[in-house]
Amino acid sequence: MPEFCGISLAHPVINASGTFDAIAARRVYGDALLADFPFSAFVSKTITPEPRAGNAPRRIWETPAGMINSIGLPNKGLEGFLAEDLPQLAELPVPLIVSVMATGRPEFARLVEAVADREEVAAIELNVSCPNVHSGLIVGEAPAETEALLEALRPLTAKPLIVKLTPNVADPAAVAVAAESGGADAVSLINTLKASAFDPLSREPALAAGHGGLSGPAVRPVALQQLRSVAAAIGLPAIGMGGIGSGADAAEFIAAGAALVAVGTESFRDPRAGSRVAAELDFTSPQGAAVQPALDLD
Ligand SMILES: Cc1cc2nc3c(=O)[nH]c(=O)nc-3n(C[C@H](O)[C@H](O)[C@H](O)COP(=O)(O)O)c2cc1C
Repeated sequence: MPEFCGISLAHPVINASGTFDAIAARRVYGDALLADFPFSAFVSKTITPEPRAGNAPRRIWETPAGMINSIGLPNKGLEGFLAEDLPQLAELPVPLIVSVMATGRPEFARLVEAVADREEVAAIELNVSCPNVHSGLIVGEAPAETEALLEALRPLTAKPLIVKLTPNVADPAAVAVAAESGGADAVSLINTLKASAFDPLSREPALAAGHGGLSGPAVRPVALQQLRSVAAAIGLPAIGMGGIGSGADAAEFIAAGAALVAVGTESFRDPRAGSRVAAELDFTSPQGAAVQPALDLD
């Protein structure tokens, strides 16, 4: 049984924020979802202090071996999340990690305090791929901003704080080191890579927002390299993600230094991908292979 920041998990496969709507899945699959939940912990969609409608459509564009999204973080805001979503997410049979994002330290602090106060919440993931309105810098692109944010949030809770790193920097390890210095308990990576696509006929951007973030198998080698450099630079556990669709993919992330792996885009294709990756990972791991019966070909 893996242990992550003091939380016991049934297996090392969780979901990537924003890629599995557990409330909608419960409506579709009913209690069967709870009996066989695909992930060993559930990470919520990122919530913000106030409700957001998200970007105008088109918000998703398929690319070779992946997709670009510009969903724009639609969510009910803190109050709506606490009142409507949290009670439903608390019924899931696994520990709950809530992802939060704000555009300033006071707003981040409000989110962390309110969420940490709820006993249903096991850990908090800080989505730092956002600008700080006071400095104008994207927090997760600037080590000093990341460290200052963690220093502001660390005293507010004893619950694990996971920093979700952005891949859109020259040196993600420098940001991870800053997160560790500020008091983070873990990091997760990668978020989506900045990307664009154009409709070849209209010559207009394919996405209404003009650009978005690339995810899926196309980003996997980039994620592995970033994970490897981050894991070598810090003493904290890392959650690895980016294009994981099989146990073999997950095994690569563990080899690169991940304590846990997260399945994202693959869940859109196969809602049970989490369970499948966990089962395949068991088979692909050296220990798993050792307990497989030898094939008798005679
Ligand atoms: C449709 C979509 C929505 C996402 N929403 C969020 C989000 O709300 N918060 C977040 O931190 N990451 C979000 N992500 C990024 C994923 O959590 C993950 O970091 C990224 O997609 C890489 O993993 P993957 O290639 O397995 O999808 C989203 C990704 C997709 C495709």
